[in-house]
Amino acid sequence: MKERIEKIRHEVEEFTAKSKEHAEEFRLKYLSRKGKISELFDDFKNVSPELKKEVGQLLNKLKVSAQEKLDRFKESDEVNVGESGADLTVPVPEWKGSRHPLNLVRRQILEIFGRLGFTVEEGPEIEDDWHNFSALNFPEDHPARDMQDTFFIGKEVALRTHTSSVQVRILEKTQPPVRIMMPGRVYRNEAISARAHCFFHQVEGLYVDKNVSFADLKQTLLYFAQEMFGEETKIRLRPSYFPFTEPSAEMDISCTICHGKGCNVCKYSGWVEILGCGMVDPAVLQNCKIDPEVYSGFAFGMGIERITMLKYGVNDLRLFSENDARFLAQFESEM
Ligand code: DAH
Repeated sequence: MKERIEKIRHEVEEFTAKSKEHAEEFRLKYLSRKGKISELFDDFKNVSPELKKEVGQLLNKLKVSAQEKLDRFKESDEVNVGESGADLTVPVPEWKGSRHPLNLVRRQILEIFGRLGFTVEEGPEIEDDWHNFSALNFPEDHPARDMQDTFFIGKEVALRTHTSSVQVRILEKTQPPVRIMMPGRVYRNEAISARAHCFFHQVEGLYVDKNVSFADLKQTLLYFAQEMFGEETKIRLRPSYFPFTEPSAEMDISCTICHGKGCNVCKYSGWVEILGCGMVDPAVLQNCKIDPEVYSGFAFGMGIERITMLKYGVNDLRLFSENDARFLAQFESEM
């Protein structure tokens, strides 16, 4: 009996009516007194008592759904046929979308820093020379100002090359304390390959207040690395140079793939670089009308693609922008 019900349920579901005649045919075949569903009801008396409850429920459900389908056929002038001839009454399959991996990681980064009191700010992707370069202490002849490296739109206007520009926008209009994260898309004039792209995503962090020290920076980044990549993660800071920080550093984490033993991701060093950071250069504070004698701060910037590649073992940057459903669907069950 259950099999017969299931078979008819399937038939009802598949049935498409392309005209009023079809709709009537449907009624006669399933819902009329001599129809298949009525027939099942007639046979219900033969069902063994233990199964009566279950079978009864199945039967009722079948009848209700067939009746609803018939009602829908009747309601619609065109019966239920779309322009393409497709049956518009077929229920939409349950399809679950997925978040883009870059979005997952972006949310996770912002959430971790959110626990430390960092709020989120955004700025424009089309940026002027002042916010992207000059206020950040870039010298006139810095290579990033070159047409070869940056997409210029006008003489003093370009697609931002980093999210550090948002630091300036916020500091210009806010007196410290400032504790913010600034996510966004950035652009560079690079040939596209597995390791480089002409656009990618960064998250910038900034903390300016009285008595902010390099130790605060280090502890904040250690907390982030361990929350993001696991408790056993180690960090190391290497001296570096950025025009807008002094001193500047690059931060490595212990390789998430081989845990320091050596593999091709960390080029057998046991360490992988994940971000740039440093103490905000006093000249930058001054450019934003903040007194460097009173306030100090730290800043850092990381590429979201890079963090995502390490976290999920993705080995080609192009996958993030190609929209291949086979790649994207792999992130379906996350968050
Ligand atoms: N803007 C740098 C870049 O795009 C990253 C960076 C380095 C940001 C050091 C910072 C920082 O805030 O302090 O490569």
